[in-house]
Amino acid sequence: MSPLPARAPRAWLTEPVESGPSAGFGVYLHVPFCHHRCGYCDFATAAVGDRGADDQQALFVRYVTALTTDLGHQVAAGRRAHAAAADRDALDPRWPEVTSVFVGGGTPTLLGGPLLADVVRAVGRELDVAPGAEVTVECNPETASVELFAALVDAGVTRVSMGAQSFAPHVLATLERGHTPQRPVEAIAQAREAGIAELNLDLIYGTPGETAADWRRTLETVLAAGTDHVSAYALTIHDNTAFGRAVAAGRLPTVDEDVQRDRFEVAREVLGAGGFEHYEVSNWSLGPARRSRHNLLYWRHGDYLGVGVGAHAHLTGRRWWTTRSTDRYLAAVEDGASPIAGSEELTDTERAEERLLLGLRLRDGLHPNDVPRIEPLALADAMAVGLVETACGRLRCTETGWFLLDDAVTRLLP
Ligand SMILES: C[S@@+](CC[C@H](N)C(=O)[O-])C[C@H]1O[C@@H](n2cnc3c(N)ncnc32)[C@H](O)[C@@H]1O
Ligand code: SF4
Repeated sequence: MSPLPARAPRAWLTEPVESGPSAGFGVYLHVPFCHHRCGYCDFATAAVGDRGADDQQALFVRYVTALTTDLGHQVAAGRRAHAAAADRDALDPRWPEVTSVFVGGGTPTLLGGPLLADVVRAVGRELDVAPGAEVTVECNPETASVELFAALVDAGVTRVSMGAQSFAPHVLATLERGHTPQRPVEAIAQAREAGIAELNLDLIYGTPGETAADWRRTLETVLAAGTDHVSAYALTIHDNTAFGRAVAAGRLPTVDEDVQRDRFEVAREVLGAGGFEHYEVSNWSLGPARRSRHNLLYWRHGDYLGVGVGAHAHLTGRRWWTTRSTDRYLAAVEDGASPIAGSEELTDTERAEERLLLGLRLRDGLHPNDVPRIEPLALADAMAVGLVETACGRLRCTETGWFLLDDAVTRLLP
């Protein structure tokens, strides 16, 4: 564990302005359980749908105990590292104030209201949470209820991110989703009724069998559902998933990049006409105030703790991550051992490059002080082929460059 961040005065002419610690400080907590593992998903999940209700509940209680214990250990380890640091006078002994909390999965809402509220409240017990912090919980539509959302509001949750994926029944079937097309719309209304202030719907486009009309109707349904944020992802087929194996065996056609590009353009058109601002490659919000502050922290290369199975943390250039196995995670935390599976220290060059890669995902691009050193010829080349542009000294992708982000970054960096 790194000592806590330095508190030396900012060198305004050379240090990142919007990136790094100035982007805020977040806490990510992972809940790995899902009823069923969807064929496309390679997140750290454990399917628990074949267990009995009592067995599931016992596992959930055990996991929440381990998760909150692990959070306490990580916070205490940071303080111990600070106390032991040779240059501790230059370090702030406090953890930064938490500006965002994100409980993701898996399906966090499988835990039910009371256990999920315990997870959220644990952050406030261990760390100072800023007034007005964004507190998001990921929710699967089939697990939603007014009671669940009311328990979340009571615990301080301000935002719900719900996976709808599609409103076409045959696409939901291909994606192996366990809800009807109507259910996300009903669940959004329930969340509003319970007092959840901010609502996101996740969508996936370019699923084999999805037509252009299916996608347009899906986007129109989202506009009518009354959310303030939309995340729309091109379907990625990972080798280690059921979809990956089906594609390899010829049982499922792979994704068509031209189709995905068309879907991306239609999303820009329909969501834009509905008043949504396209502020990140895969994210739209009803104005800047509704952007996902926790995800902005990632794109601005900020600092965050990561707690739970398969969670990642980043603190001033040091990254670490925990085991992806729920059994190993539980065993480690219950034995008083560390569940951390790996760590790495980024060099200054790597940090600057990562800042570029992440910052170009944002429509705002990067502040001039946040842009790493780029060879003038490389910049001229990327601009000449229309991948990046400068605006008021900021560097950002063009709309074409956004879909070809890797190409843009490869041209800019040696
Ligand atoms: C952590 S996941 C799951 C959230 C929640 N369990 C659900 O399924 O509704 C967050 C989002 O990532 C997206 N996602 C997951 N796997 C994907 C894939 N292979 N390709 C594209 N998007 C994916 C889905 O939109 C999903 O809602
Ligand atoms: S429910 Fe969500 S997290 Fe779980 S397997 Fe499906 S996409 Fe992945």
